[in-house]
Amino acid sequence: HSVLVHSPATLSNLGCGFDVLGLALQAPYDAIRVTQTAQPGVRIRHLDPYDLPTDPARNVAGVALLALLRAVPEAIGFEVEITKGIRPGSGVGSSAASAVGSVVAANALLGNRFTKMQLVEFAMAGEAVASGARHADNIAPAMFGGFTLVRALEPTLDIVALAAPPLWVAVVHPQIEVKTIEARKVLPATVPLGLAVQQWANVAGLVAGFLTADYDLIGRSLADYIVEPARQALIPGLAEARARALAAGAIGGGISGSGPSIFMLNKTEAIAQSVGAALGSVFAELGVAYNTYVGPV
Ligand code: HSE
Repeated sequence: HSVLVHSPATLSNLGCGFDVLGLALQAPYDAIRVTQTAQPGVRIRHLDPYDLPTDPARNVAGVALLALLRAVPEAIGFEVEITKGIRPGSGVGSSAASAVGSVVAANALLGNRFTKMQLVEFAMAGEAVASGARHADNIAPAMFGGFTLVRALEPTLDIVALAAPPLWVAVVHPQIEVKTIEARKVLPATVPLGLAVQQWANVAGLVAGFLTADYDLIGRSLADYIVEPARQALIPGLAEARARALAAGAIGGGISGSGPSIFMLNKTEAIAQSVGAALGSVFAELGVAYNTYVGPV
């Protein structure tokens, strides 16, 4: 028998929360069907137009499932059919969604013997293939839903799953290539204390704003003083997109994950629709092809 899982897109970093904060979206999502087989190992088929690797050792879902299989004593394997609803490389957690969906489906086939925290560990092995670094800020919200804080990876994974207030997200995905691995190479190795203080004040303000549904506090706290300045050159149009989104009524936003997508948080669907149009207008004028997405958290 087989299990089908819908695994959602996620926003990571959320402005100031580099590598620690994340937010699950209701859509888009990847559809992942996993079938248990007597033949050991993992076989992957893609039912979408993207040219992703099918070699399990080079595929995020494959690596995640191989990590899970190492913790399974039985001689079994999995067949995986992946239909990507999330464009690879779009900066809304495409690789995390495939890694999470595949291990959640496999776990259901195995009688849910692993905890979500263990599944996060398996999925992180897969995500590392795509980003070259161990981080769980997209995996955590894909696994737990809502708003998540990855408080620690070591020595023990510590993920805090929190509720998000009602929010509508507008995302624009300009079709320029920004690989996570490259977007991490431009980051500073050290941070001046003054900037670090501003940044952790914002992280605390943002978490408080989410927990108390204080949209003004969220808006005041999103700014990222450390990572965005280093990455903004990779995303032409970012400053103008933010200016137009704020003029259209957005609460605030920034680079989605390592880019190239830009996200904006909004109080209502109507505002999010105009913010999505405002974001798109910047890239239309720049002659860059783009997609926009508007949806609830
Ligand atoms: N936190 C990561 C980064 C997310 O910004 O590099 C990208 O996958």
